[in-house]
Amino acid sequence: MSLIFKRRSVRKFTDEEVSDDLIESLLKAGMQAPSSCNSQPWEFVVVSKSEDKQAISEMHRFAKPAAEASKLIVTLGNLNEAKVIGMIEQDLGACNENILLQATHEGLGSVWLGFHPIEDRTLRLKEYLDIPDYCIPFSVICVGYPAHDGEVKLRYDESKVHFDKY
Ligand SMILES: Cc1cc2nc3c(=O)[nH]c(=O)nc-3n(C[C@H](O)[C@H](O)[C@H](O)COP(=O)(O)O)c2cc1C
Repeated sequence: MSLIFKRRSVRKFTDEEVSDDLIESLLKAGMQAPSSCNSQPWEFVVVSKSEDKQAISEMHRFAKPAAEASKLIVTLGNLNEAKVIGMIEQDLGACNENILLQATHEGLGSVWLGFHPIEDRTLRLKEYLDIPDYCIPFSVICVGYPAHDGEVKLRYDESKVHFDKY
């Protein structure tokens, strides 16, 4: 089964630390993503300190997994690097998915916490991490060793597929 069908969101983690080498492996995968005009408009903040992870976990009600993850990868869209502004979300989406798939490949658990485009979430993150105005705080990816096994449910739904015309 390919990685795509093994990946699932993990929100509970063990205390084991994720090494810097593994984080680099995830970042390499993120930066390998396709992007509009090959603009690669991403930047990242890797967060490791407990007090920072705790603060981020309190930024919105679905962000709690951040508190117990080993590391957080905050993904940013650099507006100065984007060649087609409206494409930056798609570029960052591809980058985020690559990171999640690489985490699965490395035996890690991960979950994507949504921030952009919800302004009160992005403003909090921006202020806390000193993110400059030319960067969109896109998401926070929690990374750690999974504290539980999980089952993946296949979602293929042929009623959503149209051939030739809708
Ligand atoms: C844009 C986006 C935002 C998300 N935001 C959150 C979030 O804030 N908190 C959370 O626990 N999961 C979040 N998720 C994870 C989804 O809840 C999860 O992908 C979905 O329930 C499907 O489950 P799976 O990832 O295990 O396949 C987000 C996923 C995406 C793509």
